[in-house]
Amino acid sequence: MQIVETIEDLRMLIPQIKRHGKTVGLIPTMGALHEGHLTLVREAKKRNGLVVVSIFVNPTQFGPGEDFTRYPRPIEDDIEKCRAAEVDMIFAPTPEVMYPQGFGTFVDVEGLTDKLEGEFRPGHFRGVATIVLKLFAAVEPNQAYFGMKDYQQLKVIEKMVRDMNVKLEIVPVPTVREDGGLAMSSRNAYLSPEEREAALVLYKALSDARDQAWSGETDAEAIRQAMIDRIEAEHLAVIDYVAVVHPETLEPIETIEGGALAALAVKFGKTRLIDNMLIYIGT
Ligand code: PAJ
Repeated sequence: MQIVETIEDLRMLIPQIKRHGKTVGLIPTMGALHEGHLTLVREAKKRNGLVVVSIFVNPTQFGPGEDFTRYPRPIEDDIEKCRAAEVDMIFAPTPEVMYPQGFGTFVDVEGLTDKLEGEFRPGHFRGVATIVLKLFAAVEPNQAYFGMKDYQQLKVIEKMVRDMNVKLEIVPVPTVREDGGLAMSSRNAYLSPEEREAALVLYKALSDARDQAWSGETDAEAIRQAMIDRIEAEHLAVIDYVAVVHPETLEPIETIEGGALAALAVKFGKTRLIDNMLIYIGT
């Protein structure tokens, strides 16, 4: 497994590998790797001769007062996990490599970014889209893998790729959950045992929403309110938002017909968790 820290080294190594007919699969991450990330790796390995994991805690996607400085950075563990998962290359740049002196170009994806997370984390998706486009330009992958855990991020990246004619395929991967349903996240490490237990309510609320829709409830507001009631009954939970939206536009919907996305962001102590569930009705 190669560990690469500069764009120059990527530029030297990746074309050589492509010339041998291998396709390149990229998994962008911020490290603190868990089974969710490693599932993306396994998916990428099924379809690519070279799998690259990028590890970079991207400062531009964190707002003031967010957890940029305390975000976990267990790089030695991450390297070991990648080695065990037979990752071919880690790209782990420094902030100076990604944002050198004089850097001043940002990617604003309009429309999808002002809703849900965008309302609570202004500028977040600008930072995400900017770093992801830079990673695409640096690695030039044939495919890039993104988790549905961050559903809005996935949609924003898909739109950026379409809008900017980036030549690669985005591959979505379903959310990986712990026993009990808690979505795996690097931020789960912040939770106290009590908070972790309380956070199980998120999956319960989302599963209830899906079950209600499957049993014929089409009133999106009724489903949303039931999720809110369930979450508020858990006294450690503080809701940022609970929403039932169209899975493509992310606009709130009134009636569930066909598909919907139930999405939420909830704080447990200092830890803010997001989760979502796609709901399909009918044939
Ligand atoms: P990070 O939170 O490290 O996540 C990296 C990738 O792993 C994302 O595509 C995310 O959706 C996916 N992922 C995380 N938890 C998952 C789970 N439980 N199941 C399935 N996939 C999961 O998302 C980011 O980093 C950053 O915003 C990044 C795209 C790297 C840009 O900085």
